[in-house]
Amino acid sequence: RNGTSLLRQCVGQLRFQTTASGRGCIRSSSSPISAISVILVGDRKDSATYVRNKKKACDSVGIKSFEVCVAEDSSEEEVLRSVSGFNDDPSVHGILVQLPLPSHMDEQNILNAVSIEKDVDGFHPLNIGRLAMRGREPLFVPCTPKGCIELLHRYNIGIKGKRAVVIGRSNIVGMPAALLLQREDATVTIIHSRTKNPEEITREADIIISAVGQANMVRGSWIKPGAVIIDVGINPVEDSSAARGYRLVGDICYEEASKVASAITPVPGGVGPMTIAMLLSNTLKSAKRIHN
Ligand code: GUN
Repeated sequence: RNGTSLLRQCVGQLRFQTTASGRGCIRSSSSPISAISVILVGDRKDSATYVRNKKKACDSVGIKSFEVCVAEDSSEEEVLRSVSGFNDDPSVHGILVQLPLPSHMDEQNILNAVSIEKDVDGFHPLNIGRLAMRGREPLFVPCTPKGCIELLHRYNIGIKGKRAVVIGRSNIVGMPAALLLQREDATVTIIHSRTKNPEEITREADIIISAVGQANMVRGSWIKPGAVIIDVGINPVEDSSAARGYRLVGDICYEEASKVASAITPVPGGVGPMTIAMLLSNTLKSAKRIHN
């Protein structure tokens, strides 16, 4: 909620700045100035829900959103054509291709095609490469890890000099989260599927970010007393008493971990809204770059 109200303020400011400078693509203050285009491929229910939530959030802060739905059995070229159209459209400031893509499409090929100037997901290899390099700045940072770091900042949790452990090494969350923590001067270890004795490593961590997709994998006994835990996992588990027959849990066993940690994010409702807030923030940043 904090993120959304902050963004609303920023969007108001953007309207003022653009109108006052008299440059760029000026629209009346009643119509949105920044715009994002979302490409949804296939009919995965979870992806459709994520896209719907992102569009709703855009509406709530005055960012215009366009959506292109591409059938599951479409060709990669069809997605590339949509990306190319949005790259060339000056009224579009952000392009988001919802992942995962169907297995017959080359994800990297498609992400490579997004203009780095509109890469509000921060998944383009040039943006990721810059994130990994000292002294270089990416134009955009991936939204979920950026949201994790923003949470730490907002709650005044120091990162510099801390031992941080990231569980999972995905391109979307684990790897960029580790890079961001390192940029903030944490000493970072990544745990992955081949790591031996992960619990010994997590027990040394002051900060844990978990994005592995294994329900309740991290137990209370894995955690150092007072550690800060950010749980990115969203895993369905059967629950006959729940309305849909399942409920969502994180990678961290919340019941146990919340008794040991000094701070922990809930699932759902912890990191999820931050991902969306950071997407809005990246889109606003892109619009400001283009207009000013
Ligand atoms: N799939 C899961 N998380 C994300 C995300 O942050 N961005 C996109 N584009 N797809 C996702």
